[in-house]
Amino acid sequence: MQNIVVIGGGTMGNGIAHTAAASGLDVTLVDVNDSILQKAVSTITANLQRGVDKGRMTAEERDAIVGRIRPETDVEAIAGADIVIEAIIEKLEAKTQLFAKLDSVTRPDCILASNTSSISITKIAAATRRPDKVIGMHFMNPVPVMTLVEVIRGIATSDETWQKVEDLSKRMGKTPIEVNDYPGFISNRVLMPMINEAIFTLYEGVATREAIDGVMKLGMNHPMGPLTLADFIGLDVCLAILRVLEQGFGDPKYRPCPLLVKMVDAGWLGRKSGRGFYEYR
Ligand code: CAA
Ligand code: NAD
Repeated sequence: MQNIVVIGGGTMGNGIAHTAAASGLDVTLVDVNDSILQKAVSTITANLQRGVDKGRMTAEERDAIVGRIRPETDVEAIAGADIVIEAIIEKLEAKTQLFAKLDSVTRPDCILASNTSSISITKIAAATRRPDKVIGMHFMNPVPVMTLVEVIRGIATSDETWQKVEDLSKRMGKTPIEVNDYPGFISNRVLMPMINEAIFTLYEGVATREAIDGVMKLGMNHPMGPLTLADFIGLDVCLAILRVLEQGFGDPKYRPCPLLVKMVDAGWLGRKSGRGFYEYR
């Protein structure tokens, strides 16, 4: 497997493209317009620069990695892909529409993977004529740093597809963990109720944002408090995941905090929009 296509150049897509190119793979990075792609490439360059500054890589190695990433706005131009990793918005309709398109423009043996945080791989696969080759490849943020890939098997995912994705994850320096397809898989079924509860704690005036994050950092040794982490993930992504959990299990325990809903309505999406529970420059 050598030719990787990553669709979506946002928070996750640029991290996946960065990590794949740094592992020697040829990457095509697709997004809807050139300015988003330019921003993605400059983010990748800046993140690689951290390694140059610390003497772990040369400027030439940084440039060679960036040079293995080909920005592209036309999804039809990916016919040579061995695997496509989708990292677009967390909306079922957007993903099923894209997967139906990918099914028609890629080779029949191409694996179609989704980086979805919570949406059913089985449902996404049903939009294609190759459900055996559809799989969840759920990287964690920030992708170049976090070692987990949660690999989700849809009801029809074949052993061969799982094996190829396990090998690719290892080649990218990650540790794959296999999970069956239920809402939120393991990661977000466990993480999002904690983040939501932290937001309720703020909403009910139990404590300040700093106190809530401080308790979880100092008391539980979390690297980031849950409100900082929610800003880091993106509040729109957190809300979308909670909705999938709420609808998928039909259990009100996953009801998103009204404060989270209000902030997303306001366009306060966390770090990426400059404002969330904290303010960012
Ligand atoms: N790209 C490349 N390298 C990066 C990076 C990035 N985007 N962000 C941080 N780094 C590197 C730094 O260069 C530094 O490297 P060295 O240790 O080798 O020097 C290292 O990561 C630590 O970074 P910093 O010193 O700048 O900052 P930090 O110590 O505060 O760590 C953090 C930053 C790694 C993000 C840490 O705060 C952390 O682990 N936070 C929690 C992240 C987390 O929980 N992620 C999962 C989110 S949930 C998810 O992803 C699933 C979902 O579906 C929502
Ligand atoms: P983001 O909003 O940062 O980026 C999404 C990108 O997709 C945008 O650049 C947008 O222009 C692009 N896009 C939207 N529709 C497209 C289409 N049809 N074709 C091409 N590009 C399109 O989102 P993100 O945080 O990177 O999340 C992407 C996916 O990864 C979601 O499914 C999310 O649940 C998942 N995820 C997010 C995190 C996180 O911490 N943010 C962690 C793991 C997984």
